[in-house]
Amino acid sequence: MNKRDARGDAPLIVLKNLQKAYRTPAGDFYALKGIDLEIWPGEFVALLGRSGAGKSTLINMLTGIDRPTAGEIWIQNKAIHRMSEGKLTQWRGREVGVVFQSFQLMPMLTCAQNVMLPMDFAGLYGTSRQQYARARDLLAAVEIAEHADKLPSAVSGGQRQRVAIARALANDPAFLAADEPTGSLDSRTADAVFAVFQRLVDAGKTLFMATHDRELASRVSRTLRIEDGLIVEDRRLTDAQEEQSHVAEMGA
Ligand SMILES: Nc1ncnc2c1ncn2[C@@H]1O[C@H](COP(=O)(O)OP(=O)(O)OP(=O)(O)O)[C@@H](O)[C@H]1O
Ligand SMILES: [Mg+2]
Repeated sequence: MNKRDARGDAPLIVLKNLQKAYRTPAGDFYALKGIDLEIWPGEFVALLGRSGAGKSTLINMLTGIDRPTAGEIWIQNKAIHRMSEGKLTQWRGREVGVVFQSFQLMPMLTCAQNVMLPMDFAGLYGTSRQQYARARDLLAAVEIAEHADKLPSAVSGGQRQRVAIARALANDPAFLAADEPTGSLDSRTADAVFAVFQRLVDAGKTLFMATHDRELASRVSRTLRIEDGLIVEDRRLTDAQEEQSHVAEMGA
């Protein structure tokens, strides 16, 4: 695990021959068939693939929500595949931010309380007063501070997803994984949520996003395509392309 790039960075995530089998009545079904992958700090990765290709399964491996059948997951030099259940839960709470298509906010808690929850679980960021102040800052960063004290049911879908992003940032993780985060939003709202992700990447976060949206996927720094549990395409946007897409954005 001593690999370095030209700048001296080591990969943030390394997957080695990662496999995941689900038990089914018809026998084991391999949703991931041997994934080898390195994700570097600061990358904005879009994972594309048809329904059933294995996108959510892969995201669930990266976030420790589910465990692999075989192979290795190294994140920031930690062997995730070897962690005990307790260690994994603790690691996930502190080191990973996850965003889902369906937001998955707690309906009985206000937006701010939803953002405070991961801080509370991890015992980070001080008293509840201090946690509340941090939650408000995070909500301000995604431009919905004024909704902090409302219940999720009282804000729009795009605003709920912003709350979910603020919650994912609660414990300041190095990387965020998002499973079709714009999948239930209209295209304008999706665009705004995508802009939040772009700002996070510009601020140094690493982002891994499963999506069906080709247009959004054309604006990230790297695209992966998964088919039947295997990565079949891995493309990096060159700097020139990135430059051009920024120019296009400014002209839009
Ligand atoms: N718990 C499970 N038990 C059995 N098979 C499963 C289970 N979860 C997923 N699968 C199967 O694994 C494969 C990959 O599923 P996955 O949810 O990762 O696909 P996906 O790419 O996220 O699809 P979508 O775009 O529809 O969300 C599919 O064939 C699916 O039917
Ligand atoms: Mg999925």
